[in-house]
Amino acid sequence: MPKALVSYYSRTGNTKKMAARIAEVLESQGLEVDLKTVEDTAPADLLGYDCIVLGSPTYYGTMAWELKKLLDESVKFHGKLRGKVGGGFHLLGQHRRRQRDDGPRYPPSAPHSRHGRPGGPPVRPLRPGLDRPAR
Ligand SMILES: Cc1cc2nc3c(=O)[nH]c(=O)nc-3n(C[C@H](O)[C@H](O)[C@H](O)COP(=O)(O)O)c2cc1C
Repeated sequence: MPKALVSYYSRTGNTKKMAARIAEVLESQGLEVDLKTVEDTAPADLLGYDCIVLGSPTYYGTMAWELKKLLDESVKFHGKLRGKVGGGFHLLGQHRRRQRDDGPRYPPSAPHSRHGRPGGPPVRPLRPGLDRPAR
C-alpha cells in the first residue's frame, strides 16, 4: 500500500484541521497515512513515503520558518526524493486581497495552494467598515 506523509505546522489549529482533513481524504483513497507536525518530521523521514504533503499557515506572505527549515534541511536528500508525489497547502488570514494584488510571494519551488492566484479560489469582497482596502 502506498504511504503518504501529511506534515504541517500550526500554531492556532487551522492548518492542523486542514491537515487532518487531507489525511482523511488520502486514507479514503487507499493510502496509508502518517499525520505529523513538522517539528516531529526529520528530513530523513521524507524518504519513507511515496507521497509527501506539507502545510503551513501564511506568515507575512510566506511559510512558517518551521516548515522552511524542514525543506532547507531536506536538500541533502534531493536526488532521493525524485519521483515521489508532492503537495502543499497554506492557510490565509485576512490579507488575501492584498496578496492577490501583489502576486504570490512563495518562491516558485515552494509548496502553495492556488489561493489568491489567477484561477484560484475567489477572494471574498471587502466588508465595509471591517476590512481595509488593498493599498
Ligand atoms: C505572525 C503572523 C503573520 C501572518 N501573516 C499573514 C499573511 O501574510 N497573510 C495572511 O493571509 N495571513 C497571515 N496570518 C494569518 C495566518 O496565516 C492564519 O491565521 C492561519 O490560519 C493560522 O494558521 P494556524 O491556526 O494553523 O496557526 C499571519 C498570522 C500570524 C500570527
